[in-house]
Amino acid sequence: MSKIESEQQLSPSGTVDSDKYTFPQISQINIYPVKSITGISLSSSWVEQQGLSFDRRFMVADMNGKMVTARDNNQMVRIKSALQANGLVLTYPESDPLHLSFSDFMMEEVSCNVWGDEFQAYATSEAANAWFTYIIGKKVQLLFTGEQSNRQREKIQTNVSFADGYPLLLVSQSALDELNQRSPKTHTMAQFRPNIVVAGTKAFAEDGWKRIKIGEVEFEIVKPCARCVLTTVNPETAMRSEQNEPLKTLSTFRADESGGIFFGQNVIAKNEGMIRQGDKVMVLESKAKEVYPDTSGDAIEEETLKAITISVNGYMFDGDNQGTLLDQAEQAGVAITSSCRSGLCGACKMTLESGKVDQPDMPALFPGEIEEGKVLACCCVPKSDVELVD
Ligand code: FES
Repeated sequence: MSKIESEQQLSPSGTVDSDKYTFPQISQINIYPVKSITGISLSSSWVEQQGLSFDRRFMVADMNGKMVTARDNNQMVRIKSALQANGLVLTYPESDPLHLSFSDFMMEEVSCNVWGDEFQAYATSEAANAWFTYIIGKKVQLLFTGEQSNRQREKIQTNVSFADGYPLLLVSQSALDELNQRSPKTHTMAQFRPNIVVAGTKAFAEDGWKRIKIGEVEFEIVKPCARCVLTTVNPETAMRSEQNEPLKTLSTFRADESGGIFFGQNVIAKNEGMIRQGDKVMVLESKAKEVYPDTSGDAIEEETLKAITISVNGYMFDGDNQGTLLDQAEQAGVAITSSCRSGLCGACKMTLESGKVDQPDMPALFPGEIEEGKVLACCCVPKSDVELVD
């Protein structure tokens, strides 16, 4: 793995003075050594095929190898890390620091699963498993990809770390600036967890890039990044936005017809090499930008809060016509299986037996399912007394 020239914790403020850049150049390079924890901002990084060195090389998993992330365990965003010559140090406000040394790892093969990709990773240490088990509140293990991840992604012809699906995520600073102009809240880059931030462009210029070169590395811009509920979690407090921001604002100008919300671009590196903060971004090839309908000027009718009764698998509780079914069930102590919390995985799919819900068309719903009464608890909102079963 490469030498890190300097590092700092990724500031939750995530702001950059983009005016000082007169051409596109890198303003931030960020890594997230353990999937879902706070990032570290670097002045330079070695780019590997599987992503930046040290990025998402660790992942918390349940005892069946299924990923455990901050989507369901928001407190993970409060875990910080620092790189050391022989490993990592991890900190969490209510715990002693965890010192992870590569030489202490058990390195037994463990089957794991990231968004349906089954592959072999490696066990780390009992101390690491215990440290994360305390924070998550259920038995989990910390896994390591090894120097080279075994996860081969046929679709993009490369191997990938524990990242969601692609080795790198790139966002322009001006995209965040535009979001902040439109949103009632001020958002930070840390909410979007990019690896590379580019300053000195028009907002969302990256949507129109196909191939770029930074320093000695050529990158292919593969597809827009679909954003999930994790963007609504405050990286400092681990609290979810009650107004569902920034997704609510993004849905008015960055949503496609199926309701997917996009911010930033997934990227793969075509060769290995060094990139540095301040490196120019050369656009080698452009492509047509995706078109998202702008509905921000549409009048939004505020609906009056109404008390309703919700029944989930026979358990009844009081709810309202404004929160998602999943949030309201959890507040009432009623369990519903969930995972991505953003309409992508289908884990929370239920059948509506009676009543009315507002169910947007999400990727996890197959054609015709809405008409059959299928709903996703994570993104449907009950509008009357409802009965649902899974
Ligand atoms: S939890 Fe994944 S679709 Fe609802």
